[in-house]
Amino acid sequence: MTSAPISRRRAIVLGGLGAAAVATGATGWIATGAGAGSRLRPADTGAELRQPQVLDSRAGRLQVELTAAAGVRLAGRDTRGLGYNATAPGPTLRVRPGDELAVRLTNRLDEPTNLHTHGLRVSPETNSDNPFLRVDPGTSFDYLYRIPSDHPAGTYWYHPHHHGMVANQIFGGLVGALLVAPPGPDPDLPVVEDRVLVVTDTTLDGDGGLVEVNAMDRAMGRQGELVLVNGQHQPTIPAAPGATQRWRIVNGCVSRVLSIRLDAHQLVRVAQDGTFLPAPVAADRVMLAPGNRVDVIVRPTGTGHFPLIADAVDRGGMGGMGGGTATSGPITLATMVSSGAPVTAPSLPSALPAEEPAAGPVTGRRRVAFQMGMGGMAFTIDGRTFDPERDDQTVTLGAIEEWTIDNPGPLAHPFHLHVWPFTVLDYSDATLPTGVPQDVVLVPARGWVRLRIPFTTYSGRSVYHCHILDHEDAGMMATVNVRP
Ligand code: C2O
Ligand code: CU
Ligand code: CU
Repeated sequence: MTSAPISRRRAIVLGGLGAAAVATGATGWIATGAGAGSRLRPADTGAELRQPQVLDSRAGRLQVELTAAAGVRLAGRDTRGLGYNATAPGPTLRVRPGDELAVRLTNRLDEPTNLHTHGLRVSPETNSDNPFLRVDPGTSFDYLYRIPSDHPAGTYWYHPHHHGMVANQIFGGLVGALLVAPPGPDPDLPVVEDRVLVVTDTTLDGDGGLVEVNAMDRAMGRQGELVLVNGQHQPTIPAAPGATQRWRIVNGCVSRVLSIRLDAHQLVRVAQDGTFLPAPVAADRVMLAPGNRVDVIVRPTGTGHFPLIADAVDRGGMGGMGGGTATSGPITLATMVSSGAPVTAPSLPSALPAEEPAAGPVTGRRRVAFQMGMGGMAFTIDGRTFDPERDDQTVTLGAIEEWTIDNPGPLAHPFHLHVWPFTVLDYSDATLPTGVPQDVVLVPARGWVRLRIPFTTYSGRSVYHCHILDHEDAGMMATVNVRP
């Protein structure tokens, strides 16, 4: 085997890992480099994009069973990847505001797991969106989520959250979309097609086994060599000139930041993290940190093949894009194939039902810092690794706080808070905030973001963390206790 040249970015990080890591890295990380080892060859490239099975609520309730187990089809091959109900992504759960969502999670993995409803505004306590629960192999657990009647209609997702195993389980394929939406056309935004695009990445060997990642990949945040949409490799999305489509894009990758463009078209952003923007915003590209969702409207201007591309993203100052790996981009996610006669579609509304963030004066201010220590081997928040028993922040229910998230290090980290969405006030690098509540924000390297967080909805304990899930598993997570 020829050893791949060490890219500048990798070399710099490696230098920061210290002697012990280099020693293990010498046997580990080169083997995972591009071109090393045999890899699964996709068998479904160019097939039409499928939608995961949709499970809809009826009469105010959705009751589902989700079984997590190995053995799913990915990229058109039988693999030992992980799935819910033998599919990756798992079924799309669709509920309406005011509904009850009951999930029986059965664990057929060989390690503990649990379930998190990312972005959903539900209680973090008992058997609701409680990240401290542990569902052991061979057991089941009954979750019950009460969706409030004023919940925004939008795009959310679900994934495991058992600390220490989140990155591996999501890399394996344990993700699914969760929509708060009525079945059929959205009265606020009529479109000809409404599709879910769950983007994931993974690395599979020639036999369909999951490839282990090493300390180096975890330190940077792993990026899988295979980037999939709804578990498919570079699917085609049928379209017609003029016909509007809503694409609900979920970044379900463990660490990959997606910078997405559609050849020869603008992407019209209508929602971020499950909440409508005040008005549609046309742009050449949309950015999604891991965990983010962006809903875009696409309207083909003519006939033809138009690739949907994820470009390489500089995630930090460790050598920049020039040192990016072969897996960082540009990558074709899918291809829109527009054909047939032009279609007259309903025109886009000029205003959307954006949510008014909770009004009121700021009642408290805090600073929180992502820190990488020990030459890139320790991942902490405020110098401490995750301890589920410790309360890191205590907040009084009803508080509206301003939090500054500091990131003194050389890598961008996506900050995520469960249950209580925040509005970004400003970024150190002058990125323009969306102005609407969101649940993941990318904190620039050697920079900060300032957030407004209304803790006005639920009491209970939950977590905030880096959504580079390798970092979260390594301890870059902390607790917040909202007391009544
Ligand atoms: Cu998407 Cu705490 O996670
Ligand atoms: Cu979450
Ligand atoms: Cu991080």
